[in-house]
Amino acid sequence: MKIIFLGAPGAGKGTQAEIVSERLSIPTVSTGNIIRAALKDGTPMGLKARAYIEAGELVPDDVVIGIIQERLAEDDCKNGFILDGFPRTIPQAEALDAMGIVIDKVIDIEVPDETIARRLSGRRVCKNCGNSYHIDYKKPSVEGVCDACGGELILRSDDAPETVLERLAVYHEKTEPLKAYYEKQGKLFIVEGQEQVEDTTALTLKLLEE
Ligand code: AP5
Repeated sequence: MKIIFLGAPGAGKGTQAEIVSERLSIPTVSTGNIIRAALKDGTPMGLKARAYIEAGELVPDDVVIGIIQERLAEDDCKNGFILDGFPRTIPQAEALDAMGIVIDKVIDIEVPDETIARRLSGRRVCKNCGNSYHIDYKKPSVEGVCDACGGELILRSDDAPETVLERLAVYHEKTEPLKAYYEKQGKLFIVEGQEQVEDTTALTLKLLEE
């Protein structure tokens, strides 16, 4: 199965992608995670992306499309995948179609902007491995310490309140039009994001099983 998770920053795409990925035994391809790893490793692509990410802007389409083309050609994507954070613009969606990739379902997770601001200010990520937690919804066993690797948990640089506002503005302008794009293709399914992660997951899995 080939699935896209759409939604505003902090809507819960990454969280749902991780759960569904395990359930269906297909990989999650997250452009945000790939770019952050490149940034951490100081690769040329990471250096190019840094200013965009820190300002809450989108990385240019040609860079992201190149990342996706390479990643989807890898062996583990042969039997399906979940796209988390791609496409984010109409040209990115058109590029995916031009690659001949046929998406089965696009799940749009809808969460009001006010909820997003609260969620992202509580998110903590591991400085070392990038695992994601939340101070209320997904607590680590020991406060401030990653369960997976023992690394320090920090606030993501683009989760600063003023950057979140910019990311939301960019989402409404550039990414939200994708809903109409996929609705026209008959592939769009809406999930109302719930207060508890497992309640959102139940709605998501129900849609995927239909
Ligand atoms: P990216 O990493 O994709 O960031 P994003 O879309 O802004 O997504 P987030 O990771 O912030 O949110 P999410 O929806 O995954 O929420 P999560 O599950 O973590 O991209 C970062 C940057 O990279 C972009 O700004 C851009 O610069 C660049 N980039 C990436 N892809 C690009 C592209 N295609 N084109 C151009 N540039 C690109 O949940 C958020 C928090 O809420 C978590 O802590 C979670 O635990 C918590 N939470 C609380 N309640 C719930 C609930 N009920 N359901 C789910 N989560 C909940």
